[in-house]
Amino acid sequence: MPDIPHTMRALILTGPDQLTLQEMAVPPVRAGQVLVRMAASPVNPSDLMTLKGHYGIGAAYPFVPGLEGSGTVVGAGGGLMARMMLGRRVALATGTGGLWADYAAVDASRVIPLPADVPLGAGAMSAVNPLTAIALVALARRGGHGAVVSTGAGGQLGRMIRKRAAAKGIEVINVVRRAEQLAGLQAEGARHVLDSSDAAFDVDLAQLCRDLRCRMAFDAVGGDMTGRLAQALGRRSDILVYGALEQAPIRLHPGTMIFRDVTVRGFWLSTWLPRKSLPEMLWHARAATQALRGGFAVSQVARIVDLEQAQDGIAAYAGAMSAGKTLIRLSRDDLGVMPKA
Ligand SMILES: NC(=O)c1ccc[n+]([C@@H]2O[C@H](COP(=O)([O-])OP(=O)(O)OC[C@H]3O[C@@H](n4cnc5c(N)ncnc54)[C@H](OP(=O)(O)O)[C@@H]3O)[C@@H](O)[C@H]2O)c1
Repeated sequence: MPDIPHTMRALILTGPDQLTLQEMAVPPVRAGQVLVRMAASPVNPSDLMTLKGHYGIGAAYPFVPGLEGSGTVVGAGGGLMARMMLGRRVALATGTGGLWADYAAVDASRVIPLPADVPLGAGAMSAVNPLTAIALVALARRGGHGAVVSTGAGGQLGRMIRKRAAAKGIEVINVVRRAEQLAGLQAEGARHVLDSSDAAFDVDLAQLCRDLRCRMAFDAVGGDMTGRLAQALGRRSDILVYGALEQAPIRLHPGTMIFRDVTVRGFWLSTWLPRKSLPEMLWHARAATQALRGGFAVSQVARIVDLEQAQDGIAAYAGAMSAGKTLIRLSRDDLGVMPKA
């Protein structure tokens, strides 16, 4: 095993929007944990919310953000599972941050070994979005839905939901917010795409929902969008709100819920996954890493930045999310070739 230094570089959040690059001690590895030499970590909307102090991780300042990534296990704090991971290339997701640093100490149960042919770059984005796409499509299937509406459909997760749903025989009505996104998704072969900025959007969405007998929506946006979905869907519909891209409270007329029997509920991977049995979790993790080989789980990357340039990379991503992820490079390890947006 390589020599572990005593100190490392890390981005540290000391308060809302207060992110600085600092030198700090490499975290100690406790029993059942592994020490990962980080390779890369993407910037996701959940990270943008964390930086603003709005995400539900409940960490006290100061802390190191970064919710998912990839790297190599270089230390084990004891326990069979931790020792078995030693030397392996892994994907990891903590749910509590800690990954925008040279090293991270995490529970061994939080790391997923990467197949030999999956590069560390793609592996860094293999946990959160692919597993969310798997989860949402599984919920649609369990409810017997043949069609769903998906908002934020021009983003990476929206694309994954569309591909995963198609593979499971579910039609997707993709909702984007700009004409360029509509054209982009149509060019990728999406059958049903609507632009929410179009004057006819609400009428067109309601018609399409009727045509496809659609009674479920996955909403990444919130704000007014959730109410618009509730109006367009059929009676006894189910809206799963899984994102807050609009950064605004949901606006929904109570009559829509009462007289049309529409249910609005939240979805969070961090609570969905732990309810699964260990074999189910492993099965889902395997499905996600398998689908990094050109399958539904592939993310597009707009730029790769070093830790020193991370703040610029975060700002660039926040200003043009559909252009693809910012991937923060945390070591010299080969990240492989990234699909460009
Ligand atoms: N609940 C969970 O467990 C869970 C798990 C994973 C992800 N998520 C959520 O899933 C959502 C999508 O994540 P992602 O990784 O796919 O992000 P992404 O790749 O950055 O894509 C975000 C997309 O949403 C669009 N968008 C941004 N603000 C919007 C707004 N106010 N109204 C409508 N569209 C907007 C962006 O378009 P522009 O280019 O026009 O900005 C972009 O197309 C996020 O909200 C994220 O937090 C939730």
